[in-house]
Order: sequence, then structure tokens, then C-alpha cells
Amino acid sequence: MTLALTTLTLPAGEPATAEAARVLGEGGLVAFPTETVYGLGADATNAQAVARIYEAKGRPAFNPLISHVGDLAAAQKIARFDETALTLAKTFWPGPLTLVLPKTEDCAVADLATAGLDTIAIRIPSHPVARAILKLFGKPVVAPSANISGHVSPTTAQHVEGDLAGRIDLIVDGGPVEVGVESTIVGCFEEPMLLRPGGLPREEIERVLGRALLRPPADVENDSAQPLAPGMLTSHYAPRTRVRLDATDVAPGEALLAFGPLHKDAERAAAVMNLSCNGDLNEAAANLFGYLRALDARMAQAIAVMPIPSHGLGEAINDRLRRAAVERE
Ligand code: TXA
Ligand code: MG
Repeated sequence: MTLALTTLTLPAGEPATAEAARVLGEGGLVAFPTETVYGLGADATNAQAVARIYEAKGRPAFNPLISHVGDLAAAQKIARFDETALTLAKTFWPGPLTLVLPKTEDCAVADLATAGLDTIAIRIPSHPVARAILKLFGKPVVAPSANISGHVSPTTAQHVEGDLAGRIDLIVDGGPVEVGVESTIVGCFEEPMLLRPGGLPREEIERVLGRALLRPPADVENDSAQPLAPGMLTSHYAPRTRVRLDATDVAPGEALLAFGPLHKDAERAAAVMNLSCNGDLNEAAANLFGYLRALDARMAQAIAVMPIPSHGLGEAINDRLRRAAVERE
């Protein structure tokens, strides 16, 4: 298996879409925008292409991947939908929701993509570029976030280039993404379970289902031996700089990731970026990964993060920040 030596970047448009479908068909790797983050796509039915994703990202283990499809009929070829799953799919697709469902018996997706599980994660993205590629390609496309494993997810084509240039075949540049955090993952088990908070707020899902989503048992998320969403390891979203949460002050040499009106110590910060000056959680989600990357590049003592409310997209933002704050060697 060999990785591409040169990576082509094309602006989104018909030539890029056609080239993306061609490269996918040849077993190549294509980064493309979705509404949540940029994905690194491969033909889900081609085990060798799927293996190249793990190699390009430097993923330590074969974590299962999300299969992206263009419509519900395509999703029903690879997974079995119960009533709850159908309700969620019809209400929220296309959009930032991933469903984990039992695989169909003749599911064409490579076992490597589901890490040998008998369930499969599926979503229909709403981004027009992603939709155009899926429509033209006509088969499921597996796509993890298009970053080196353990890095912050990419929200622009430039982030993808920084991480993966020379390791993948094509980047389709559709500009900055809209949502900025990954999709919400719901496991459609006996009781629907929130496996990962994300770009679709939990409250909206619970309103439609008329009941609360379960959370996985506390220690399951971080137990790499038998995780429910195995990619959700604690230190997944990792800037190199130490991250200090719920900061109510700023120490000398720290960079400040602000939210809402600035802290009185802000002028002593080595750098300041405000996720949303007027406290808008959607704007904050869209800025989160880009600002983390930018502050990480300042080589500050630490990144102090002001408190962020946990309703709406705040749940996903705080989840990613907690992971970013885990101490690493
Ligand atoms: O917004 C997103 O979801 C982006 C864009 C590109 O679509 N993709 C993304 O993929 O975030 P990735 O690989 O970074 O995260 C996929 C998550 C992992 O936590 C993985 O463990 C979980 O989905 N997953 C995949 N298949 C699963 C399964 N059968 N059961 C439980 N969790 C699963
Ligand atoms: Mg990821």
C-alpha cells in the first residue's frame, strides 16, 4: 500500500466533483467538506481504499468509520431501520446526525470500515459539495474527519492541507464549514443512546422522540477495549498546548479562548480569540477548531478557556474541550 505523493486541491464545482468520483472509484482518498467538518473519503465497499484511510490518518487502531450516503434508500441497503431510526432519519437527514444501526445481511460496506462490528454508523450530510460527490459516485463513502489522528478536526481546506498534503489524492475546497463540530451520534439500540454530542443539539432529538436519550455508562467511552463509540477516546481532540477549562482569570503567558464579553485579565493574555463576542453557541461551534489550531500555534504556556454554557451546541463544544484538556505525555 502506498500513499499519494502529490495532493491536488480543486475549488468546489463540477470538475472537482467529477474528479472526486473518479478518484474514489480508483480506490483513492478524497477530502471534501461536509456541513460539520471536512471528511476524508474512500469507497466504503473497497477494503484496500478503507485501509488507506487508517494509514493516511495514522490511526492507531481500526476504529469504525461513518458511511456517508446520498439518500434514505441507499442507507436502507446497508442498515436496518426500526421506527425510531426512521423517525430520526426523516426528521434530521440530510444533516449533522449519525445513526448507529444493525447492518443488513448483504451490507456491501467492507468489514474493515465497521471494525468487524455488526452495527454500522451512517449519515446523509447536507453540504451541497458532499451531496454532489455522493450522488455522482453512487456508493457509500466512509469518511472520518480529515486530520492526522489525534489532531483537531479540520474546518477549512487549509487545515486539511496542513495535516494530510502528500498523503491523500485530492482535496475539494468548499470554503469554511458551517457547523464546525462533528455530527451527533445516536445509537438506535433498544433505547436510543447519545454516543457523541455533536452538531445537532440533543434537545432537538429528544423533542422529536418525546423522551430523553440515554448516555453510555460512564467508563465505557474511555475504555478502548470495548467502547460503544470506539473513536471517543479521551484525548481525541488534542492541541499540543495545555488547555485549562472554565478559566475565570488569565495567568501571564497564557492564551485566552474567550466566549462572550471579555475577561478583565484579557489584556495580559499572550493572544486572545473570542469564540462568540455576543455568546452565540452556533457561532462558537463554527469557530472552535480553527481557533484552537490558531492558539495552539502561538506556543503559549496554556490555553485558558472561559466557561461555556452546556445547552444546545454547548454540549458538543464542552465535550470537545474536555477531551482537548486531558493531560498527555
Ligand atoms: O461529522 C462527522 O461525523 C464527521 C464528518 C466527516 O462526517 N466524521 C467523523 O468521523 O467525525 P470520525 O471517524 O472522526 O468519528 C466517527 C465516530 C467514532 O467515534 C467511531 O467510533 C464512531 O463514529 N462509530 C463508527 N461506527 C460505529 C459503530 N458501529 N458503533 C459505534 N460507534 C461507531
Ligand atoms: Mg475525528
